[in-house]
Formats: sequence, C-alpha cells, structure tokens
Amino acid sequence: MPADGSPYESCPEVCGNLERPGVALDMPKWIEHSHLDTTVDQLRIEEALAAMAWRGKSILHIGVGNSRFAQRFAAEAALIDGLTVCQSEVDLARSLRIPNYTVYFLNKYSREFLLTLTNRYDFVIDNNLASFACCKYHFYRMLDNYLWAMKPGARILTDQRGMDFTVEEQRWILSYEDLQALERKFPVRVSRVTATVYSIAAIANEVTG
Ligand SMILES: C[S@@+](CC[C@H](N)C(=O)[O-])C[C@H]1O[C@@H](n2cnc3c(N)ncnc32)[C@H](O)[C@@H]1O
Repeated sequence: MPADGSPYESCPEVCGNLERPGVALDMPKWIEHSHLDTTVDQLRIEEALAAMAWRGKSILHIGVGNSRFAQRFAAEAALIDGLTVCQSEVDLARSLRIPNYTVYFLNKYSREFLLTLTNRYDFVIDNNLASFACCKYHFYRMLDNYLWAMKPGARILTDQRGMDFTVEEQRWILSYEDLQALERKFPVRVSRVTATVYSIAAIANEVTG
C-alpha cells in the first residue's frame, strides 16, 4: 500500500529527462487531435464550465486539440491561452484568427512554462491530467506550474474519463481519491462538479508559526 494511499506513490520519483519531460511527444497518434472530434471528457468539462460563471474570465486550455473549445468560449471570455505539443494544432489554432486566443507550443511539465505564460487564469482546463505523465516529479511540477499561473480561488477542471486514459503507465490512472490526496501536498481543495467532472481549486497558502 502506498504511503499516501495513492497509486502514483509507486511511480519513479524523477525520470531524469529535464529537457523533454512527458511521454508521447513524438507520437502523433496520441497528441495530434487537430483533425479529430472533441473527446467525450473534454465535452463534459465544457458542459460543466458552461454552467459556471466563466464569462469575462481568463482560461488556460491544456491540449487544445481541434480548438473548438476556443471557438465556443472565446467570444465571451476575457482571453483563452492554449498549450499543445503538436505543431498542426498550433497551425490550426492560429489559422482561426480568434482575437483573444493565443496558442503556444509549450510542454506543460516544462520549466519554460514559467518563462512563457504571462497571464493569470481563473480556469485551467486539462482533460488528460496525468495521461502523459512520465514521473512523479514532473506530475507535481505540472501541478505547481498550474498553481503558479492561477489566480487565488481559480480552478483546474478535469474529468474521470481522461483520468482513466494513460499512454504508457497504468499506474497513472487516477481516481477522485487520488486527487483528494493532493490536498495533503499542495494548497488545493478538491471537489466534484458533476459525477465525472472534478475541480481542483487553488487556495491561499496558510502562514504558520
Ligand atoms: C488526446 S489530445 C486531447 C485534445 C482535446 N483536449 C480533446 O480532448 O479533444 C491530447 C492533447 O494534449 C496535448 N499534450 C500532450 N502532452 C502534452 C504536454 N506535455 N504539454 C502540453 N500539452 C500536451 C496534445 O498536444 C493534445 O493537444
């Protein structure tokens, strides 16, 4: 039984690949969704978001795919920034010429994340929260990147279906309870938005001592 009760406790601590963290970076089958329909899990998150106070908010979309998320929400959002590690997704996004939509070829696990993004967000949308994870260090690094980019009270939205999918390692299948375990390591509060869509909210660090 893992010490913290979560399956990813048994993952390698550090993969050692500091320059290109994550898996499937060279696998179009998993990362190229510019020409594919939106996934079920992404659509579920969009439905959940649509029921929230999202208008006028800043949104970071991790894994832009076919950019239909931006086509649906950008007109009434303050801005949408998107990330992808697939050049054809960048090309499609830019060809749409949506004024407040900016897509970066940027790895969510990377140090460059901190050097590239200058906006702060009310929502981070990531339907494949751990699907492309290589190691525990970079999963935590990704979460730290997100928290750094989030406004106080901002929320990461994810979905169980995407959390059930992993490219390589079955141990990266996460449950709602695994997300709850993050509350012991990060200043976050986890809650259910719908039966399958979950929220990880950023809370202010408590000052002790
Ligand atoms: C399966 S597609 C999902 C696309 C879209 N979110 C959907 O559900 O329809 C995975 C997306 O995650 C992106 N991705 C994979 N690994 C990534 C990483 N390390 N950093 C940023 N984006 C990544 C891919 O480029 C691709 O846009």
